[in-house]
Amino acid sequence: MLSKLLAHPAFESPTKRLAMKYFAVALVLFGAQLLFGLLAAIQFLWPDFLFNLLDFSINRMVHINAMVVWMLYAMIGSVYYLLPDETGHEAAGLKLGELVFWILTLAVAVVVLVYLFVQVGPGKDSTIWLITEGREYIEAPRWADIGIVAVVLVFYYNVLGAYLKAERKTGIMTVLVADLLALAGLYLAGMFYTDNISMDQYYWWWVIHLWVEATWEVFVGAIAAWALIKIVGAKRRIVEMWLWIEVLMLFGSGILGLGHHYFWIGTPEYWWEIGALFSSLEPVPLVAMFVHVLYDWGKEQGRTQALENRSAIRNAPAMAWVSINAFGNFLGAGIWGFFHTLPQVNIYTHGTQFTAAHGHLAFFGAYAAILIAMMYLAIQGAAGIRIMRMTALSKWSIALLVFGIMGMTVALTIMGYEQTLVERAELGGGWQAYFTAQNLPWYVQAQGWRLAMGVVTFIGFVLLFVDLLTIGNRQHEERQHEMEPAPAAA
Ligand code: HEM
Ligand code: HEM
Ligand SMILES: [Fe+2]
Repeated sequence: MLSKLLAHPAFESPTKRLAMKYFAVALVLFGAQLLFGLLAAIQFLWPDFLFNLLDFSINRMVHINAMVVWMLYAMIGSVYYLLPDETGHEAAGLKLGELVFWILTLAVAVVVLVYLFVQVGPGKDSTIWLITEGREYIEAPRWADIGIVAVVLVFYYNVLGAYLKAERKTGIMTVLVADLLALAGLYLAGMFYTDNISMDQYYWWWVIHLWVEATWEVFVGAIAAWALIKIVGAKRRIVEMWLWIEVLMLFGSGILGLGHHYFWIGTPEYWWEIGALFSSLEPVPLVAMFVHVLYDWGKEQGRTQALENRSAIRNAPAMAWVSINAFGNFLGAGIWGFFHTLPQVNIYTHGTQFTAAHGHLAFFGAYAAILIAMMYLAIQGAAGIRIMRMTALSKWSIALLVFGIMGMTVALTIMGYEQTLVERAELGGGWQAYFTAQNLPWYVQAQGWRLAMGVVTFIGFVLLFVDLLTIGNRQHEERQHEMEPAPAAA
């Protein structure tokens, strides 16, 4: 079992053992996400590739749904992992929690197999129930949707039970408990079907935007605060103060920032002003999160150096990923998001590869990075390592993943720029313009670079995978070795 391989020896805490299972599945799905992304990227260049065998629409769908699902798995894993530490209790009703893990994982496997076997067909009521709901990112059929709701209810009960029993309710846990309720509740908005496309999209965005720009960001704020306490021994009073400020700002701008998706879908025009104003403010909390990480790090660095010689960083790979998260979130969501958030700009960039550039950097920077940091922390805990150091694999995987994602982002930005100028501004949009723009050299070459950088990203992932599987055991054994009594001098 992958979760056994992830670390040695296993935890005493059953809640943490369950966390490792969630992390293990997350890692496998992350790999699947990248493989399907590569297939889709190849099809942009050679449209005949796997034609009628594995269509682009399916590859794209599996790519982005696997992403959402692995991130949710890793988020659930993170919460189970920190729960015993933060509350002093194991998850409530853990047996049920164990059971739904297996049910959920089986359901995910079935849903993906159905996608692969039924690639085309009529859209009927039965399609929505059995095959796909057809809503980008959350395409699971309705039977699975209902199952997901049941699983999440059990998870929430697990967490809430432990929280309520805790003698001291930490700020981090209070924010998490409230945030998870909002996050789960929003999922319901994506479950109702109407045949009015404007209305359908209107509510679908409640899930998508209010997840990534409100509830998931708050989640990251809480996790990053917790990680900083663990990694650099940051003071709880300080990180929790930042956390409350971030929560206030994220909800303040994120909720009405929803307007930037309501420019052109048949909603009233007042959304132009609302969307422009509030979504422009969204980078502000991301700057705060960025400053928060660097500030705490710098402060603790100074404090521990004053106490001389104590290592300031207890988990070097996790700290690197927390920093990548701070930069990546700011760049991908804040800067690349801001680029196209005003309606005057968005009318030209809407739905071009520019959007994909933003989507890739934001999801990687804001979410993949912090979840990888949590995986390293969990492995450190499982293997009982006091100070986790970087291995050569940790370093190479960081270098290749960051270089690959940045490379893809730049390539996609060039494509988006070309589409904006040629297809939209020069040719005025439309079917013919779309194809003309897609066949010009800038676009085609950039697609080639995206594929090349995708391969770099994938190699980075393979190294990360191997590192996560081996770093715990290796550093555990080294430590055992160091602790063995030195042979008596002759
Ligand atoms: C971590 C946070 C974020 C993530 C993960 C994220 C991700 C995404 C993704 C995947 C899309 C494409 C959706 C689709 O398929 O149609 C998108 C669209 C968009 N995002 Fe973000 N985003 C984030 C934050 C932001 C922020 C802070 C802003 C603005 C300041 C922003 C502005 C936009 C805009 C304007 C669009 C619409 C693009 C279009 O018209 O084609 N995003 N985002
Ligand atoms: C091996 C590396 C990757 C390759 C080759 C790749 C390729 C692709 C392709 C071809 C698409 C479809 C774009 C379209 O329909 O125009 C796509 C969409 C997407 N990918 Fe990736 N991807 C990779 C890694 C990632 C990673 C690491 C993330 C996030 C953590 C990610 C997130 C997304 C998102 C959010 C979309 C939807 C974007 C939108 O609708 O605007 N991908 N990717
Ligand atoms: Fe948004």
